[in-house]
Amino acid sequence: MKIGIIGLGYIGSVTAGVLAEAGNDVIGIEIDKKRLDAFNNGEPPIFEPGLKELIAKNKKRLTFTSDYSRLKEIQVAFLTVPTPTVNGRIDLSYIFASAKSVAEITKTATLIIKSTVVPGTAAKVNSETGLAVVSNPEFTKEGTAIDDTRRPDRIIIGAKDGNAANLVEKIWEFTEAPILKTTNENAELIKYASNSFLATKISFINELANLCETISGCDVETVAKGMGFDKRISPYFLKAGIGYGGSCFPKDTTAIAEFAKENKSPLTLVETAIKINSERIDKVISLLKEELGNNLREKKIGVLGLTFKQDTDDTRGSQAIQLIERLLAESAIVNVYDPIAKVNLENVKRFKTKEDCIENSVAIIIATEWPEFKNIKVNDKLVIDAKRILPPRSFNNLKSIGLSWRK
Ligand code: UGA
Repeated sequence: MKIGIIGLGYIGSVTAGVLAEAGNDVIGIEIDKKRLDAFNNGEPPIFEPGLKELIAKNKKRLTFTSDYSRLKEIQVAFLTVPTPTVNGRIDLSYIFASAKSVAEITKTATLIIKSTVVPGTAAKVNSETGLAVVSNPEFTKEGTAIDDTRRPDRIIIGAKDGNAANLVEKIWEFTEAPILKTTNENAELIKYASNSFLATKISFINELANLCETISGCDVETVAKGMGFDKRISPYFLKAGIGYGGSCFPKDTTAIAEFAKENKSPLTLVETAIKINSERIDKVISLLKEELGNNLREKKIGVLGLTFKQDTDDTRGSQAIQLIERLLAESAIVNVYDPIAKVNLENVKRFKTKEDCIENSVAIIIATEWPEFKNIKVNDKLVIDAKRILPPRSFNNLKSIGLSWRK
């Protein structure tokens, strides 16, 4: 097929690469010139494991351009543009703008919304553009996005128009994943329900971690492991820590909670999950203060990890960055280390190695689960393991989230 992909972020670029690999001719549209040049030079501007190689291998079937007129011949256009929240509410302006730009070029292509959008959006895009609109939410995770796209757990196809739905089914046939065909609105809500459920699971285990800390002999890791054997619960997304971050969970939980409130049918469980998540930084700070005292002024604190999780350079919605902001607000001296994050932080000292960062700090906080942090040497300095990557009590001065340190 001839496929357009509008917006070459993490999802757009991976979708482009995987669909080209599956034998389609793909035209990726990116309006940011710097990003576009990077794709055309074979150096994707984002780090996603395997993406550079995937693009290089399939470059014959991949075109990257900012020129919408190149979309004349396409059969479908995936919209993979950002849907940020502004004051808690979803901002759909990029969706409508990109949909209209496609509609100016072709009257026959089907629009496929991959970005996360509130229920009712596809119907509005259809009435504004006159094009058939399919809702095809994505469930890939950064860090494993290519594999998740090649072998997804399921494909959700929401559409009013049966032919358009069949077209999208054909595109994803090669994945052999189970396909659910439904209304646009169900498809749109399935995405929010899935992300909110996973975020709630994380907040559940984080609150339980707080309880574990008060009970001598309890460790949240073991409690989660014991729970996870039950297939109904599953072991995934039960890792306690600094709270969920990223470009999806924080934004999507807020957007759906706000949407539900407007519909006069609030999602109180999701609202509570958001509240619990917002208290995770306080938790880490309080563990630090228990050892260093209430006044953090001029104390040198080393933060290991800046990204919202390992195997990505993405710092959007990162809990580590929020932690740093809190430490700075408390007048601490903040030292940081991260192997790949591309972020300019003011008033912090970034070290090139974790060893230097540790040596120049009186206390260390592990804020991202980069594997290389598993073998740090700390010489009895205080370590807060906010990601639970170190074996319990492996150092004299180790405090782990969710582990009772009462002997
Ligand atoms: C998430 C979803 O997992 C994907 O299914 C979805 O497609 C994507 O959002 C999206 O909407 O685009 P992602 O944000 O890439 O994917 O990352 P996750 O692996 O879900 O992690 C999100 C956050 O939760 C991270 O900060 C991570 O450290 C944290 N987390 C995850 C925990 O604290 N505990 C866990 O057990 C799992």
